[in-house]
Amino acid sequence: MIIAPSLLAADFTRLGKEAERAERAGADWLHLDIMDGQFVPNISFGPAVVAAVRPHAKKLFFDVHLMCGKPEILLEPFVKAGADQIIVHVELGDKVPQLLWKIKSLGKKVGLAVNPPTAIAEAAPYLDKIDLLLVMTVNPGFGGQSFIHECLPKIQQAETWRRERKLNYRIEVDGGINNQTVAECARAGADTFVAGTALFSQRNMGAAVKKMRKIACASDPALADLAVPSLPPPSFAL
Ligand code: DX5
Ligand code: ZN
Repeated sequence: MIIAPSLLAADFTRLGKEAERAERAGADWLHLDIMDGQFVPNISFGPAVVAAVRPHAKKLFFDVHLMCGKPEILLEPFVKAGADQIIVHVELGDKVPQLLWKIKSLGKKVGLAVNPPTAIAEAAPYLDKIDLLLVMTVNPGFGGQSFIHECLPKIQQAETWRRERKLNYRIEVDGGINNQTVAECARAGADTFVAGTALFSQRNMGAAVKKMRKIACASDPALADLAVPSLPPPSFAL
């Protein structure tokens, strides 16, 4: 299973240090929320910031979540900046097939996100073409929002399809993930957990990551097999 702190919740005056803190804390991925002010009513950061953060977290897998109306013009810049995976939204409609193909042709992992109001069936035609399905558990645009419990059946449906069709895409959840909601999502079938506020707000981020991982594994023992070996405890407070 994967714990992916979202940099959107970090201290923007020290993003390099915050990425180092996430790596020291034993996170597996760094989730990078890219917002263009069109697809969502907020603007976050772009390829230059991702490139600047990249050397501060060499061991972390960079999970780039494009909440953008024209992701086709951003794929190469984010790959150049150090993205390991790029997630685009199914709400982009008939652009999706070409976007998934392009990300793959750039040699990166491919993710597809589904917003809370969007039926999970919209993602069904693409399940054999993606490495990760992101079930949004908040409406995208801001960190610190409350978890939308109505999204849980979508996670269950995604897990059922994966099992029935013998596929192996990851099921990621994103938005309002904390020590309560991570358990519900794990039970529903999620295996990749994005958390911004719940992790970056903690002075001891290592303890927070460890606790979230433990709760997720306890909620779905199958996740324990996928557990990423935890890094040795840091010799200093995080
Ligand atoms: C929202 C972003 C989420 C958000 C998660 O549009 O996609 O990744 O940053 O933040 P928290 O965990 O604070 O809800
Ligand atoms: Zn996100």
